[in-house]
Amino acid sequence: MKNDEWLTPPEIMAKLGAFDLDPCSPINRPWDTARRHFTVTDDGLSKEWFGRVWMNPPFGREATRWMKKMADHGNGIALIPARTETAMFYESVWTRADAVLFLKGRPHFHRVDGSRASFNSGAPICLVAYGQRNHAALLNSGLGVVVAVPRIAA
Ligand SMILES: C[S@@+](CC[C@H](N)C(=O)[O-])C[C@H]1O[C@@H](n2cnc3c(N)ncnc32)[C@H](O)[C@@H]1O
Repeated sequence: MKNDEWLTPPEIMAKLGAFDLDPCSPINRPWDTARRHFTVTDDGLSKEWFGRVWMNPPFGREATRWMKKMADHGNGIALIPARTETAMFYESVWTRADAVLFLKGRPHFHRVDGSRASFNSGAPICLVAYGQRNHAALLNSGLGVVVAVPRIAA
């Protein structure tokens, strides 16, 4: 999965409720993931975020900046690889999030034409909740095991 244009399976989105903003969305999307979308032409990272945010960030080193902005925003759910030992996870999840859901199984992401990949993510994936409402949404989703993040020192 070497480019950014891999979309969240709609069956995952359907279990999480409605979102106000997706700040990193394809220019041509097969379905909505929120009420408002920012694309690469807007540069969602430079914009002001609002409301309940859904975020499946661009891959690679950039993801660190997106996760920091999500943690600062404090209201939403992020989908990221479950690389729980990394600096990014410590900086934006273990010290700042409210809960993490470890997805049962490996999802098959979709292309921008809506088609589903025949192969799976190739890595464990998790959903990270910021804010108690989003923690509750993870618990209600039935998508996997939810772990509340204890408040530890950074
Ligand atoms: C992994 S995909 C997730 C798409 C969608 N949010 C979803 O969950 O299905 C990441 C998306 O971020 C977009 N993207 C990359 N850089 C961006 C930027 N600076 N501002 C907004 N979107 C960006 C890519 O075009 C891509 O569609």
